[in-house]
Amino acid sequence: MNPIVWFNNRFVPLSEANVNILTHALNYGTGVFEGIRGYFDEKQGDLFLVRALEHYERWKRNCGVLRIAIPPSAADLVELTADLCRRNEFHTDIYVRPIAYKSAARIGVAPDDQDAYAVVPVPFGAYIDSRRGISAGVVSWRRIEDNAIPGRAKICGAYVNSVLATDEARRNGFDEAIFLTESGHIAEGATCNFFMVRHGKLVTPPATDNILEGITRASIMELAANEMGLEVVERSIDRSELYMSDELFFTGTAVELAPIIEVDHRSIGSGRIGPVSAKLKNLYLDATRGRLVRYRHWLTPAHVPAPVLIGG
Ligand SMILES: Cc1ncc(COP(=O)(O)O)c(C=O)c1O
Repeated sequence: MNPIVWFNNRFVPLSEANVNILTHALNYGTGVFEGIRGYFDEKQGDLFLVRALEHYERWKRNCGVLRIAIPPSAADLVELTADLCRRNEFHTDIYVRPIAYKSAARIGVAPDDQDAYAVVPVPFGAYIDSRRGISAGVVSWRRIEDNAIPGRAKICGAYVNSVLATDEARRNGFDEAIFLTESGHIAEGATCNFFMVRHGKLVTPPATDNILEGITRASIMELAANEMGLEVVERSIDRSELYMSDELFFTGTAVELAPIIEVDHRSIGSGRIGPVSAKLKNLYLDATRGRLVRYRHWLTPAHVPAPVLIGG
């Protein structure tokens, strides 16, 4: 796999997109990344980038936390990504990894103004097989606090927290980790947001419980309210509420909507995928494949030719 990527303001094969071992971001975690999916729909013959503008807007805002500058506008970055899809002649589902970073190659934590960014698209299928539901376990690691490393900023170094949690969960036999905050409330999964169905409402932790403010989370909240008339509540969730819930699921660009059928070795609801999770999963699938007119504005068709706005 050697797709064409955007690196150092040029289109190059992935094998040539390499950094120096002393790069600030590699040593100190000073990068900010994104993850964007593209779904290929055979019938329509096009590859749809999902909420790419929102992802690039979030990326540029998040970069501000580390004072990393990305000169192109979010709209130009969407067009660059569509152009990359065409150059690679992708006719498959893909994942796009934009990454911006402190690029100086030297010793010393003090940041300077040397910044770089890359956009890397790769063919990509399911991140996790959730067709029959997955298991999750609350891990002993706590979610990073906003005043230590802001989790909402998608900073590379912050993902050590997610790596430790995933490693613990997998070694303990679970498919995914659930993080608690330092105050003991549910925060999110290692790479995904968290939802609970309880007393007929869809409940999810608030943005202030150290979560990443997920774009899939926002999409699912919109679908639940508009298409199912569900009341969506953002509030803190206690651990024991999980065991008493009717349904639980994760959302995220990579995991999509992953129903959780077992938590900490306890069955959730009927022990099978529940009706709300199933319906929302299908709605999300249809919306992101361009099959729901009402949500077409979420999508950028990549194969419709458009002018390249960034030089190369
Ligand atoms: C820690 C964390 N939470 C939640 C999410 C889900 O966010 P989104 O739906 O924007 O992909 C991600 C994935 O990017 C993540 O890394």
